[in-house]
Amino acid sequence: MKVQALVLGAALSVAALPSFAAEGLDLAKASGCLACHSVEKKVVGPAWQDVANKYKGDAGAKAALIAKVKAGGKGNWTAVTGGVPMPPYSPRVADADIEKLVTFVLGLAK
Ligand code: HEC
Repeated sequence: MKVQALVLGAALSVAALPSFAAEGLDLAKASGCLACHSVEKKVVGPAWQDVANKYKGDAGAKAALIAKVKAGGKGNWTAVTGGVPMPPYSPRVADADIEKLVTFVLGLAK
């Protein structure tokens, strides 16, 4: 039951977003990111919209976030997460997919 509710919830949030975002979310779901993240709310990790807003206009952010998703780490969101680390995703998620995920996240800035 719980699994069904989660799947339904993810499907609904995908439906509410434009298609580029739906693709990003599908990839995030397939990569396991949504266990700890959502677009609008803090789960275990920070809300991705907050991540996008924090780095808005920061030219180095994309490379830094790609490195962070690959290697994991903590320290940038301690006030939000209480110091929980982001796990490393390389090599279990392909580099090209990590780049797509980070581009998607940064594209959520308002
Ligand atoms: C086990 C929980 C967990 C999972 C799964 C997870 N994250 Fe995170 N994520 C975190 C936490 C905790 C942080 C905050 C790290 C910090 O304080 O610097 C974070 C931070 C981030 C950030 C911001 C990093 C920064 O330095 O500002 C991005 C981008 C991100 N995650 C993307 C992803 C992507 C993409 C995936 C899937 C491939 C993913 N996360 C999976 C817990 C998770």
